[in-house]
Amino acid sequence: MKEENPTSQEISMKWYANSLSKALGLKYPIIQAPMASAASVELAAAVSNAGGLGSLGLSYHKLENIISDYNKITNKTNHSVNLNFMTHKNPSINVTKNKKFKNHITKYYKEYGINYIPKINNTCETFNTDQLNLLLHMNPKVVSFHFGLPKASFIKKIKEQNIYIISSATTVEEAKILENSGADAVIAQGFEAGGHRGTFHSSYKEGEIGLFSLLPQIVDNVQLPVIAAGGIADGRGIAAAFMLGAKGVQLGTAFLTCPEASVHPLWIKALNNSKERETRITSAFTGRPARGIVNRLLREMDGKENILPDFPTVGSIIKPLANSASLIGDEDFLSLWAGQSAPMSQNIPARDLIEKLVKEVSDIFKNIKNN
Ligand SMILES: Cc1cc2nc3c(=O)[nH]c(=O)nc-3n(C[C@H](O)[C@H](O)[C@H](O)COP(=O)(O)O)c2cc1C
Repeated sequence: MKEENPTSQEISMKWYANSLSKALGLKYPIIQAPMASAASVELAAAVSNAGGLGSLGLSYHKLENIISDYNKITNKTNHSVNLNFMTHKNPSINVTKNKKFKNHITKYYKEYGINYIPKINNTCETFNTDQLNLLLHMNPKVVSFHFGLPKASFIKKIKEQNIYIISSATTVEEAKILENSGADAVIAQGFEAGGHRGTFHSSYKEGEIGLFSLLPQIVDNVQLPVIAAGGIADGRGIAAAFMLGAKGVQLGTAFLTCPEASVHPLWIKALNNSKERETRITSAFTGRPARGIVNRLLREMDGKENILPDFPTVGSIIKPLANSASLIGDEDFLSLWAGQSAPMSQNIPARDLIEKLVKEVSDIFKNIKNN
């Protein structure tokens, strides 16, 4: 007679064959986080080809680059991919604030012998009609949004094409808002996470919740599948997330040291030395809170956030400085985005990482049942 409970073999084989992987057309519900320029076409394609979900962060792209990257990735993989856009408020231009910030930054420009400080401008488009039309034309399996969902009329059009919609929540309240606004799945983004906080409704302080606390509370309060993100770097983290009710995981930092990623060598060096370093939340690089490895700009801007212009315009002043400094091997002005599990980075190709993670999780579930 067949056992009512699945065998350990069945559990270890089946943890990944769930409703989320089915809806996204995946073998494994492991998502490589969209990471603006760091998540290259090569990285995303390798992840999708290995059975996970590769993601491209496209908000800093011009329209022609969005379509060219999409064409490149569809030439490299037939599997599902996720296109990611940001939904921040358009920045307001505050002349006095901009002047104050430029004055503050001048000393750094002088240090590197750069005479010309560029005009502060918007480096990253909020999700708009042109991007929507392009998205509908590209028709990917999945779209994800950071900083909340776009307006209802946009969501309606995306839903009409059956594109699966995901977005990040940093509190239970935000998860409920996403559920009521048309998301198909919610990412619970813990405070450990690298890169920008997805906070869009709660205060940033309210969203400072570790994944172990945030995830089960979101699972208990929404009907949608929940994807865990923040500090997950190996099979133990994934298994723990599943035990807390997640149907999938999204890993960012763990993929940064894959050779397919497009990450500055000084950033890789910082990730590989991250055991001796610290990560912290800062607005210094873009005007919006994000977690990165502590370096000079992060340290020296601490407590001076009130002089920062709006997200993302800060980046237009910091980027040229970061470029000049990094040319002479100086990481001081690079945004070294990383989550709290950065010291667990493995420096292995994306396919190997996916296979390793899957094996680790399967072994854990097998052992739990056997012990
Ligand atoms: C370098 C970097 C860039 C990121 N850029 C984006 C982005 O463009 N869009 C987005 O939705 N999330 C972005 N994130 C956040 C991730 O979606 C995710 O929440 C985070 O990577 C999870 O934490 P972990 O890095 O500890 O795995 C970024 C994260 C990192 C590390």
